[in-house]
Amino acid sequence: MTLRNEPLTAVFDPRLFRENSQTAVAQLESHLADLSIRGLELTDPLVLSEAARALMTTEHQSIARFDEKKLAAIIELYVRTGIQVHSPGYMGRQFSGTVPLAGVIDFVGSVVNQPSSFYEAGQLPSVAERIMADELNRFIGWEPGRFAMVTTSGGSLANLTALLAARNRAFPGIWARGETGGETGGPRPAIAVSEDVHYSVTRAAGVLGVGEARIVRLPVNRRRQIRADRAREAIAAAEARGLKVFCVVASAGTTPVGAFDPVDELADVAAEAGAWLHVDGAHGASLLVSDRLRRKLRGIDKADSLTWDAHKMMFVPAPCTLLFYRHAHEAIGAFRQRASYVFDEEPDAYHDFDGGDKNLECTKRPMIMPLWTLWAMYGRALFAEKIEYLCHLTEEAHRIVAAEPDFETPHSPEANILCFRYRPGGVEDEHVHHLQLQIRNQVRGGGRFFISKVDLDGVAALRVVFMNHQTTGEHFRMLVDEIRRIGAHLLTKRSGR
Ligand SMILES: Cc1ncc(COP(=O)(O)O)c(C=O)c1O
Repeated sequence: MTLRNEPLTAVFDPRLFRENSQTAVAQLESHLADLSIRGLELTDPLVLSEAARALMTTEHQSIARFDEKKLAAIIELYVRTGIQVHSPGYMGRQFSGTVPLAGVIDFVGSVVNQPSSFYEAGQLPSVAERIMADELNRFIGWEPGRFAMVTTSGGSLANLTALLAARNRAFPGIWARGETGGETGGPRPAIAVSEDVHYSVTRAAGVLGVGEARIVRLPVNRRRQIRADRAREAIAAAEARGLKVFCVVASAGTTPVGAFDPVDELADVAAEAGAWLHVDGAHGASLLVSDRLRRKLRGIDKADSLTWDAHKMMFVPAPCTLLFYRHAHEAIGAFRQRASYVFDEEPDAYHDFDGGDKNLECTKRPMIMPLWTLWAMYGRALFAEKIEYLCHLTEEAHRIVAAEPDFETPHSPEANILCFRYRPGGVEDEHVHHLQLQIRNQVRGGGRFFISKVDLDGVAALRVVFMNHQTTGEHFRMLVDEIRRIGAHLLTKRSGR
């Protein structure tokens, strides 16, 4: 017996699929062609919910008839209410306007649906993962065939997974016993991180039961990089308190200012302490593909693991994270489980390409495909040239804002992140923080530019992240003018109170 259901068959009609795709493609084409300066149209969630609900069918008994106009309206709402990542006004966060071709491949992936944790479920994605790992490892420098790479849905998950592998290496009994070292009388697990480490690392420590009290904070220098000389002392002091620092985490591109910790020196510090060195390169590992910028990660070949978000500086759709391990067997060390429905008792040539035993996720998107396709079609230079332009633009922006007497620049940029404050003479210390927050919100509310903010030493700063090669120094000057206009207005209002 076959299921004869006309409305159901219509939903799967390949011709309808083509028409729907054409509708979406036409709308996206005009979206990409619009180079006007715009940031975010911030919408009241209640208003947006109402608009979204108005697009929902009221038919609940049978499959609703397809309405092409409604599809166009959904796409229009989706595109319009997003941060305008393809506009030169977008300078705010670490995800990018993707290379459009990456979106095309993602779209194919969504239709053919090949989840990539196991070879049999995603053959090409599994092979593409291996190829991309080899390609990118040329810039890391580990021994071919001896290292491993798994994809994870985001840098946060990669950091957690790497810390888990590190913890299991230092405390092999915990996975089975489920207890911390301290409870059996030995030293208690701890990690050492910079002041500016991303919150996903300290969150991962919490998830692993390390606990905030056992996070050793390593001091940073004026450029906000970990001071390797002081790291030794801090780790020794922690060990004297009965802790065992099993992992030192260096950031290659910190989230607040894009600073690069000294990986080379920290690798020596970690080795002396018998600790794992994890490099959180979620933001900055992509600089490895540039001949000019690779030196920022000097010593990366000495790390034990590396988080690399391709959805940041490789300009592909989120999420797409690559977690590299210097020694392939450590990747399996993160998880020690058996599950007859997926893990084969008799491993064969295909099993070697499975990633499920090295990964928290079971079903996950074949996220490598957009990255591999761009790499296959355009090669390394696409990424290197865009990254070099963005870093260059950031230096130019720094010069622009440093020359303005009513602005202050608390750091020199190392990558594509720049922080600064609007602070004309006469603004007292206690007002600086709040002034930046107000400016940031008003810039966002204005809808022309999208920027972010971050606290540096407890005081808010305005933060731009250049992710769009269509943004120029001129656009940045316009942003500076807008900030000055908003800031001056806020100060006038305050003095008039
Ligand atoms: C340095 C760093 N690590 C980790 C993360 C988390 O990555 P994800 O957002 O992909 O989970 C970020 C995100 O901004 C980051 O900047």
